[in-house]
Amino acid sequence: MTNRTPLIAGNWKMNLDHLQAIAFVQKLAWSLKDASHSYSDVEVALFPPFTDLRSVQTLVSADKLELAYGAQDVSAHDSGAYTGEISGQFLAKLDCAYVIIGHSERRTLHNETDEQIGAKVRAALKHGLVPVLCVGETAADLEEFGPSAVPVGQLKAALAGVPSDANIVVAYEPVWAIGSGQAATPEQAEQVCAALRAELAATLGPDTAAATRVLYGGSVKSGNIAGFMREPNVDGALVGGASLDLDEFSAIVRFKKHVGV
Ligand code: PGA
Repeated sequence: MTNRTPLIAGNWKMNLDHLQAIAFVQKLAWSLKDASHSYSDVEVALFPPFTDLRSVQTLVSADKLELAYGAQDVSAHDSGAYTGEISGQFLAKLDCAYVIIGHSERRTLHNETDEQIGAKVRAALKHGLVPVLCVGETAADLEEFGPSAVPVGQLKAALAGVPSDANIVVAYEPVWAIGSGQAATPEQAEQVCAALRAELAATLGPDTAAATRVLYGGSVKSGNIAGFMREPNVDGALVGGASLDLDEFSAIVRFKKHVGV
């Protein structure tokens, strides 16, 4: 048995402006309230674009919502001549709890290296943000190296210099499953999430490994979430496309209603 609280995280990517964000968050909160959702049973975190965060903060605080939120990236630096970058200090001021780091779209489209991702993880921790560290293999990696080698290597690299009691979340997102409609099977997700937890144990120690949530991401929908959540090493999901569909996302959050133990 695990006492890790499941986390369902919605990565909006570059979708929804701040007005759309307010409407969406309000509707989601109502939908979950109607369903008597218990946030202490299943935590919910949203990752809007940077420009939405202040509006989301204002709404969450005014309506005393239990939704957590965070940014989709953070600078490795605290302040200075880094045009276009956002400091973890600014995110902390906006009451962000989390920040996504090392998403495959940033690794691929912005050539982010393991080294830069490690520096961002350390910067997030320094500012009291919980990094949601994304790792995952491409289809070519899978063919060449098998299922776990690349994600485990990315995790190991990103954890360099991270204190053993660090509060982090790891998201296993096979690149071939992201936005493709072709999710991993629960067994595939479990195999890699277990390997990631073993790496956490080797690097940060067994207590931190037992406490750290490892999520699966890649074409998660209301129709497949239950299968993932039955696996012992999968502690939640990082949801992209389906997080923009209110009914879908709300149903994913309420997976316990249809997980059928
Ligand atoms: P997807 O995206 O759910 O649309 O596959 C997941 C992600 O990129 O985090």
